[in-house]
Order: sequence, then C-alpha cells, then structure tokens
Amino acid sequence: MQPVSWTTNSPVKTQALGRKLAQALQAGDCLALCGDLGSGKTTFVQGVAQGLGVKETVASPTFVIVREYQGKLPVVHIDLYRLNHPADLDGIGYEEYRAGQCVTLIEWAQKIPGVVEDCLEIQFRHQSPAGRKLTGVAHGPRAETLLERWGVS
Ligand SMILES: Nc1ncnc2c1ncn2[C@@H]1O[C@H](COP(=O)(O)OP(=O)(O)OP(=O)(O)O)[C@@H](O)[C@H]1O
Ligand SMILES: [Mg+2]
Repeated sequence: MQPVSWTTNSPVKTQALGRKLAQALQAGDCLALCGDLGSGKTTFVQGVAQGLGVKETVASPTFVIVREYQGKLPVVHIDLYRLNHPADLDGIGYEEYRAGQCVTLIEWAQKIPGVVEDCLEIQFRHQSPAGRKLTGVAHGPRAETLLERWGVS
C-alpha cells in the first residue's frame, strides 16, 4: 500500500487526526511517530488518547521516557529521544509492552533501528509555522489495515 498523507494547519486539527485514527486502534497496535522537534507528535498523541477515552492530560514523556494511561484500552506513550541503542529498550520493558494488550505510541521511533518496522509509521513534517504534513507508511498487514481505515473519511 502506498503512503497516505494529510495536511493540518493547527494543533486542534492534528489532534482531530489522532482521534480519528484512534477509532481503528486495537490492543497490540503500535504507532511509530517520526519527526523533528515541535513537529506535532505529542499533539497527535493527545488526540489519539482522547479518542481512546483517556481522561488525563497527556504530557510529553521526553524525560520520563514512558507514561501509561488507561482508556478503553491501556495506552503506553514512549519517547525515544533520549535513547540511542536497541539495548536501551530492555530497560523500559519495550518487548513486554509490544507483546501485551496495550496500544503503544512511540515518539522519535526512528532513533532505534527496527522499531519503525514493527508499527504504522507516521512521519511529521513542518510545512509552515502552523502547517504540518503527516504521512502514514504501513509496515506489515496490520499497519496496512490501520492506514486504510484511517484514510476512510
Ligand atoms: N498543525 C499543527 N499541529 C501540531 N502542532 C502544531 C501545529 N501548528 C503549530 N503547532 C505547535 O507546534 C508544537 C508541537 O509540539 P509537540 O510537542 O506536539 O511536538 P513534538 O513533535 O512532540 O516535539 P518533540 O520532538 O519535542 O517531542 C506545539 O507548540 C503546537 O502548538
Ligand atoms: Mg513530543
């Protein structure tokens, strides 16, 4: 399946894209959020969490690395910005999360080789001060299903 792109011109619209994708998410799904500083990854996660019924405010996990939330599914929000090696994943229980019944949302997934290949990759690009382009790239059959369902308006 070819990549699918969306443009957004506000944080509110970026959150709405996350809420929409949330409707298709199931236990065990993973989103790899790849893009520069301030490109909208955490903003998007806020929308996904809202869509999954999380009531708490979602904040960046850059310094704590992992935050967990409970919605209609458990939500695990990971930030790999401060990690560099595949072995670092052991310290945060990455394999256990991926094998479990949660939805895993990973910022800076491109920092550690192999992580993106396990997920629906979403690339975030700055286009203007408030403009962002989001591109979904499916790795594997489950990610393709998610991307198809996300693209249906
Ligand atoms: N269309 C947009 N979508 C998302 N955020 C936007 C948009 N336009 C402006 N912004 C602003 O850009 C910033 C995005 O911050 P956010 O924390 O979501 O980025 P991030 O990719 O998670 O960054 P980091 O790599 O530091 O974790 C916010 O200040 C937000 O208000
Ligand atoms: Mg962030």
